[in-house]
Amino acid sequence: MALKGKDFLGLYNVSADEINEILTTAEAMKEVFTRTVKKIPTLRGKTIVNLFYETSTRTRSSFDIAAKRLSADVISIAKDSSSVMKGESLIDTARTLEVMGVDVVVVRHSAPGAAEFLARKLKASVLNGGDGAHEHPTQALLDMYTIKERIGFFKGLKVVIVGDIMHSRVARSNIWGLTKLGAEVSVVGPATLIPRNIMDLGVKFYTDLDEALAGADVVMILRIQKERQAMGLFPSIREYRKFYCITEERLEKLKKDVLIMHPGPMNRGIEIESSVADSVNSVITEQVTNGVAIRMALLYLLAGRKKENEIIA
Ligand code: CP
Repeated sequence: MALKGKDFLGLYNVSADEINEILTTAEAMKEVFTRTVKKIPTLRGKTIVNLFYETSTRTRSSFDIAAKRLSADVISIAKDSSSVMKGESLIDTARTLEVMGVDVVVVRHSAPGAAEFLARKLKASVLNGGDGAHEHPTQALLDMYTIKERIGFFKGLKVVIVGDIMHSRVARSNIWGLTKLGAEVSVVGPATLIPRNIMDLGVKFYTDLDEALAGADVVMILRIQKERQAMGLFPSIREYRKFYCITEERLEKLKKDVLIMHPGPMNRGIEIESSVADSVNSVITEQVTNGVAIRMALLYLLAGRKKENEIIA
């Protein structure tokens, strides 16, 4: 089977088979990391543009590395150094790049639906690098890859997502992806940071962290966006820390082999205690490494595959 369509916009419309295909392809891509020359010719002659309207360290640099490891030509455009600052629209910017012969546009934008909008307008493939609070599908896939690599299966796995579920594109993509693979997903956070219809997504909902964490196999910690406190969505950082920080004391009560995950960037000492981020249970740096493999897999599946079973030369 093959990933359907020219674009990759989110996990809402993607089947379990398609997710498994991406994870399997990423495994083959990760093997390239062990070679002396970490480069394969799969996307030679293809051009990838990273069009980032929001800040990013991990997503942008890993798409950059992924494209280079596949031998594509790649350029990265940040909002602040582009003609967007002169008032150029998203679609005019993207069309300008397309007529230069771009094959894939990776876009990050603060507006939910921005990637889908571009996908409808462009002939080039569009890959969603995060659109507002809607989806961050490559982050969820690298999270799933890391879980699969460490634990080996998803069915019945108890995954707890902690923090600001309401504004988190990472949470939304992970909920759609993990539930399709059979994981039992729970969310926990202040009631003001959990969408009212969350149970419609097939997850359990808690406000008590210790209750939610009981029996967890995986704890996925979200970054708390400090501006949410200014919006009155929780009383203070100190109180958030008291009720929702994953501390060493809380870690000690969890399963011995529980996985601690965070998409980054982290607020050490707020949502995660520094010693937990650096503990043996933490797979946060593995998540970053696996992000390159996932992004290589998606670029290959969208732009590079010629025939079944032809992956790596
Ligand atoms: N996890 C994530 O999307 O990080 P960046 O904002 O650094 O890309």
